[in-house]
Amino acid sequence: RVVVLDFGGQYNQLIARRIRDLGVYSELVSHKITAEELTEMAPKGIVFSGGPNSVYEDNAPKCDPAIFELGIPIFGICYGMQMISSHFGASVDRAHKREYGKAEIEVVSDSALYRELEAKQTVWMSHSDVVLKPPTGFVVDAKTESAPVAAMSDAERKVYAVQFHPEVRHSIYGTEMIRNFLFEVCGCTGNWSMETFIEDTIRDIRETVGDKKVLCALSGGVDSSVVAALIHRAIGDQLTCMFVDHGLLRKGEAEGVMQTFGKEFRMNLVKVDARERFLSKLKGVTDPEEKRKIIGNEFIRVFEEESVKIGLHEFLGQGTLYTDIVESGTDTAHTIKSHHNVGGLPEDMTMQLIEPLNTLFKDEVRKVGEELGLSAAIVWRQPFPGPGLGIRVIGEVSEDKLEIVRESDEILRNEIAKAGLDREIWQYFTALPDFRSVGVMGDVRTYAYTVGIRAVTSIDGMTADWARIPYDVLEKISTRIVNEVDGVNRVVYDITSKPPSTIEWE
Ligand code: XMP
Repeated sequence: RVVVLDFGGQYNQLIARRIRDLGVYSELVSHKITAEELTEMAPKGIVFSGGPNSVYEDNAPKCDPAIFELGIPIFGICYGMQMISSHFGASVDRAHKREYGKAEIEVVSDSALYRELEAKQTVWMSHSDVVLKPPTGFVVDAKTESAPVAAMSDAERKVYAVQFHPEVRHSIYGTEMIRNFLFEVCGCTGNWSMETFIEDTIRDIRETVGDKKVLCALSGGVDSSVVAALIHRAIGDQLTCMFVDHGLLRKGEAEGVMQTFGKEFRMNLVKVDARERFLSKLKGVTDPEEKRKIIGNEFIRVFEEESVKIGLHEFLGQGTLYTDIVESGTDTAHTIKSHHNVGGLPEDMTMQLIEPLNTLFKDEVRKVGEELGLSAAIVWRQPFPGPGLGIRVIGEVSEDKLEIVRESDEILRNEIAKAGLDREIWQYFTALPDFRSVGVMGDVRTYAYTVGIRAVTSIDGMTADWARIPYDVLEKISTRIVNEVDGVNRVVYDITSKPPSTIEWE
């Protein structure tokens, strides 16, 4: 494996990702890791990431200096290079001109990192500090017009450093440089894959859990499904999954979860039917935030009460992803998130967490899911909010309204799949605004609900654009909804992007 030390740069998660894509296991750890802890991880190489600080500032983060003495190859990127320079006694200065964006470098050495690459190449720069002269023992590997040391190395000590960002796609040979570091310098073999990940994780889970018991909250979403399947593969019946049906799920979802995990995977699966309980708590409530709070709290209550019934489980399995950890703003990728993940479990829960996906990205989780034999319907499931249809029914939630959303959503999903658009559109669903209007059906006046269709393209849900669904597909959806769903006489399509709208209607 190769360990990436995190100095807080915005592209750090990409570095570990690029390394894994090259078949070498990699994870990001806090820059505060000691040389001793690092030795225990037995990495073949160490990467120092970029970061927002200047090395000459008082509180600039530095790694344990003993790491330089371990004899393990080191690759410093951006801030990492400045830290290496400063460690080996060269000065780092503020640049006259901040370099940001594409830059042309010229390779001027025969360093292993640039083997067989063109001498002149485009890289991605993002820095305001420069190294003007390399430390003793280092040679200049590359320069740009404004940076005399754009890259440097000391082949004897196996320390390599670049001022630019090879992990960013705009650096055209960036991946090749990382590849050269891994294979030429560190001697990695590149045989890591999702299969190896699964094998290693299963072994770890077995070691950690021993003969104790694990409980998993299963929602049917990708992350919790993959975690459940993985833990089940490791310890079989020592795992119990709990599926809380809060009645705010889409059509067929509860049955699908029970079918897949209970019947196909033969897991210990406890289904808690809490539909009435949630509905009665939501009675008369119209404010979206209040609805969210009620649903979240009720979920915790149900989970706690039911956990007591099934007896002591020492561990709690969670589908925390790498991005969740990074987004939580901790300084180390290994800090375990507090229990808020499963809809906000209370702090005083004494169970120990198992989070086997916390080094993976979403698409990697999908690969693990496929490898474990989960169906495409689960692996490629769209994002679905925890409060479910509770926030897609605007105003007071009732069983009648939920039924309208379930039925119309089913039609939408069905037609989108038939049109072959299901992987292209990031998320699509129907929502029910709280108003009715006049229509005419079979010469009779109707006064019925309007269904809203929301379909967006997005990368991560932070921003989104409305999907350009072909008119004939929209027409089919609209016709089917008014004909097949009772209580609906109008269908509208949301043509706003996010921002200014959000994806959900609530
Ligand atoms: P908005 O509506 O904020 O949604 O643009 C962005 C994405 O987040 C999903 N979403 C949630 N996911 N719990 C979740 O796990 C929630 O409470 C929640 N609320 C919104 C939404 O479906 C969209 O994909």
